[in-house]
Amino acid sequence: MRLKFREEDIQKLLDNVNIVDVVSEYVPLQKTGANYKGLCPFHQDRNPSFMISPSKNISKCFVCGKGGNPITFYKEYHKISYEEAVLELAKKYNINIKVIGKYNKINEKNSIYYEILNEALEFYKENIFKNDGRSALDYLYKRGFSVDFIKKYNIGYSLNNWNSLYEYLLNKSYNIEDIKAVGLIKQGENGYYDTFRDRIMFPIYSVSGNIIGFGGRILEDRKDIAKYLNSPETVVFNKGRNLYGIEEKGFEIKKKNYAILMEGYMDVLRAKSFGFNTAIASLGTSLTESQAKLLKKFTSNVIIAYDMDNAGQEATERAIMILKSNGFNIKIVTYKDAKDPDELLTKFGKAKFLEAIKESKEDFQFLYEKYVNLYNINDIVGKKKFIEHFKEFFQNINSELEKNLYIEKFSKQIDIEIDVLKDILIDKNKKTRVYNTEIINNFVEKQKIKKRDKIEEDIIRIFFLNKDYIEYFKSYEFKDEYFNLIKNYMLKKDKGLKEILNSNEFSEENKKEILDIVNLNFKLSNNEEKEKFFLDTLIAFIRRDIKEKMKKYRETNDTMSYFKLKIEFEKLKNLQLKEEILKFYNQYILSNIEKE
Ligand code: UTP
Ligand code: MN
Repeated sequence: MRLKFREEDIQKLLDNVNIVDVVSEYVPLQKTGANYKGLCPFHQDRNPSFMISPSKNISKCFVCGKGGNPITFYKEYHKISYEEAVLELAKKYNINIKVIGKYNKINEKNSIYYEILNEALEFYKENIFKNDGRSALDYLYKRGFSVDFIKKYNIGYSLNNWNSLYEYLLNKSYNIEDIKAVGLIKQGENGYYDTFRDRIMFPIYSVSGNIIGFGGRILEDRKDIAKYLNSPETVVFNKGRNLYGIEEKGFEIKKKNYAILMEGYMDVLRAKSFGFNTAIASLGTSLTESQAKLLKKFTSNVIIAYDMDNAGQEATERAIMILKSNGFNIKIVTYKDAKDPDELLTKFGKAKFLEAIKESKEDFQFLYEKYVNLYNINDIVGKKKFIEHFKEFFQNINSELEKNLYIEKFSKQIDIEIDVLKDILIDKNKKTRVYNTEIINNFVEKQKIKKRDKIEEDIIRIFFLNKDYIEYFKSYEFKDEYFNLIKNYMLKKDKGLKEILNSNEFSEENKKEILDIVNLNFKLSNNEEKEKFFLDTLIAFIRRDIKEKMKKYRETNDTMSYFKLKIEFEKLKNLQLKEEILKFYNQYILSNIEKE
């Protein structure tokens, strides 16, 4: 069992316990300017390398890196748990602290991860009210969120630099492996860097109330990088198994006995700010089987309020099927003049959303109205196809009684005999899906990613850095059909990431993969780096092409061509300037096209 404390109490403790008092009890200290130093208690120290900063209320050894705030120092020094340190310090310095709960056994092994994520949250939360967080705060004000709301929902900001969180967590003496394990830092060629930078940070909680990950939003909408970056899948965060916005133990949802299912972070937060506190989101992808099962623990009634665009409507249909097979009563909200619930509420207020809920349609009716537009039901073939479109829905209904009730209703609506409908939609329509689609999809996805060619992937990346770069590969046929699809889509329609993510020409898995690829662009912090990456990619691309051709010529004993290429290859090595590289590239491509 592990204890849990209120954040305010921990803060109170840290505000009232002086690091100098704590450390000086065990380590003789000397004053040096505004700070103190002493021999490090954590390693064999001969010259004082243990520094104490009273203004920051922290300690740190410059040799071994250990130290921390009063709690973490005390914990390290006595080799006890964080919770024990809190309790002992509170007792010692006479500070009143309440124990609010206990982690259960299962969580115990993950408690270090929750602790790190919590620290990160504290850091993000502080940032937003600092000078460096001004732009983030302005953005949230602009979107109509108040200080109280920001505080209540623990919204934060990740600073616009490469490793402030990393430094902060190291200072608290957390272990690099643990910080990496929760997805807060990544390993690059030049060391570790923060995963989230210059983003508004939304904490994601599990049903048991532990913080398990973050979603981070950019401050300005841009085409070259993903709007939201989410924590990667980690030991404690599995996107498909959690629901954003679910309150601890699903308490509110249980109480009201319904949930409103939305697409995004902003929708949920906005809904909550208007008092719809059972709003939850499936985090970008459409609802998964596990998410439906999780929700089922708290209610059997769901109101779907996804976005009104194509992607949202497509996701609604998928969610209906999954919810239906899990025995939910489903209603669907539709609305006009707004793209998502957030916009609807902001533009028209609470009453309008309530009205939309009141007028929400039942699943069958919703699908009826959706499908009926796809066919000409005055035509026999059209009518047959229309009826058959309901096969999937009927496969997902668990109860025979319910199936029959829908059939009765359907029969009246399109004026076809009950028996005929029963035959098509019940008797000859048994559910065949026995496999777990999630596992299979994950598997397929991983296989696909593995197979992708690194250089081709980099080429796709540069398309998202700057659309002008597509020109350079206009005539290139990717080995990977899927990459050709992206290229052609971007070329044909002059479209960017946003449109791809909203288009139904790409599957959800593919979208996720594109996001993963594009997210790598975050590593490039300025235009100079971006351009360098672009040029490096051009060079890597030609180099491989030359090598492949040389191999071919050698095999076919075409010595002449072989040596010609070898000369080109040597030239390539010496290219430095941008102009030189571009010129070489263009000539190379041109001469190759002529040959082919
Ligand atoms: P939306 O684009 O509808 O986001 O994507 P939103 O919540 O309405 O955001 P605002 O109003 O533009 O700020 C819906 C959800 O899809 C996921 C996020 O969970 C988002 O909330 N998403 C979207 C990503 O994970 N990455 C993206 O790049 C975009
Ligand atoms: Mn939105």
